Amino acid sequence: MERQTKIIAIANQKGGVGKTTTVVNLAAALSARKRAVLVVDLDPQAHATLGLGLEKQPGISMYPVLLGVKDIADVIQPTKWNNLNIIPSEVDLAGAELEFSARDDRLEMIKNALAPVRESGAFDYIILDCPPSLGIVMTAALVATDGVLIPIQAEFLAMDGLALITGSLERVRASVNPSLELNGIVFTMVNSVAKLTTDVMDEVRNHFGEKVYETTIPRNVRVSEAPSMGVPVVFLDPRSKGAQAYKAFAWEFQAKNPTRLAPAHQEKKPDEAQRDHPGVPGGGDPAADAPVG
Ligand SMILES: Nc1ncnc2c1ncn2[C@@H]1O[C@H](COP(=O)(O)OP(=O)(O)O)[C@@H](O)[C@H]1O
Ligand SMILES: [Mg+2]
Repeated sequence: MERQTKIIAIANQKGGVGKTTTVVNLAAALSARKRAVLVVDLDPQAHATLGLGLEKQPGISMYPVLLGVKDIADVIQPTKWNNLNIIPSEVDLAGAELEFSARDDRLEMIKNALAPVRESGAFDYIILDCPPSLGIVMTAALVATDGVLIPIQAEFLAMDGLALITGSLERVRASVNPSLELNGIVFTMVNSVAKLTTDVMDEVRNHFGEKVYETTIPRNVRVSEAPSMGVPVVFLDPRSKGAQAYKAFAWEFQAKNPTRLAPAHQEKKPDEAQRDHPGVPGGGDPAADAPVG
């Protein structure tokens, strides 16, 4: 099928805001919707790798690809689920910040590495999980991507954190990647209707308007339990509040970021699709039209 690959970086210089959880569950929910997805784990902590049920393996990451000693096709790993693939991370990526800082092509290194994968048309979405810093790896991710999705918590000083990352985005847009877009902002770990929470959400929505996703992700214990089992919560416990929210979010995301000719709104909504996709490991649709690996 004709598809146009979209590359999205999920980024926020702050750690613990739900980046990896959003990467893992957005990717899982899109794959259950028969979208071919490649997750690229750029964080040396490798939480996305572990959260998708893989182990860290020396030499299986973007690191040797960026060094030019390995072909990118050789580091793309399938997961247990159809349509869901990953380039894992490993500790060596931690050295990449320093090691790559002297390279002339450091800003373009991830973009260049991903170019053959994008051009192959094998994937609808390539989702980059960024490390929690504004360093070289994250900047190179911003250069490589079409859009940046920012997960944030509705807490004190949320706007200050947003200003930092949107500032980076502006600088990359003004210099190396003029087509870089703010894909959107998604509230994660929303735990109450506390006044501070709603005030912060109102402030962010007033400032960023339509860029803020309508779907918000609630704080939910099943979401925090899933990583230790190496199964995305949307597959582990599809009925949990967290899974439902991520499925609704994936729906909204896909509608805003179509990769195929058929508009997403002609497809089934999450609650309808769920009947076809029970979401257990290996429970993907064998008729899915996407390639594996
Ligand atoms: N909606 C949620 N409900 C409960 N716990 C969550 C939720 N989202 C994330 N967490 C937990 O919060 C921690 C940080 O999330 P993570 O996605 O790793 O953030 P980041 O990648 O930004 O550092 C993890 O332990 C994760 O399981
Ligand atoms: Mg993370």
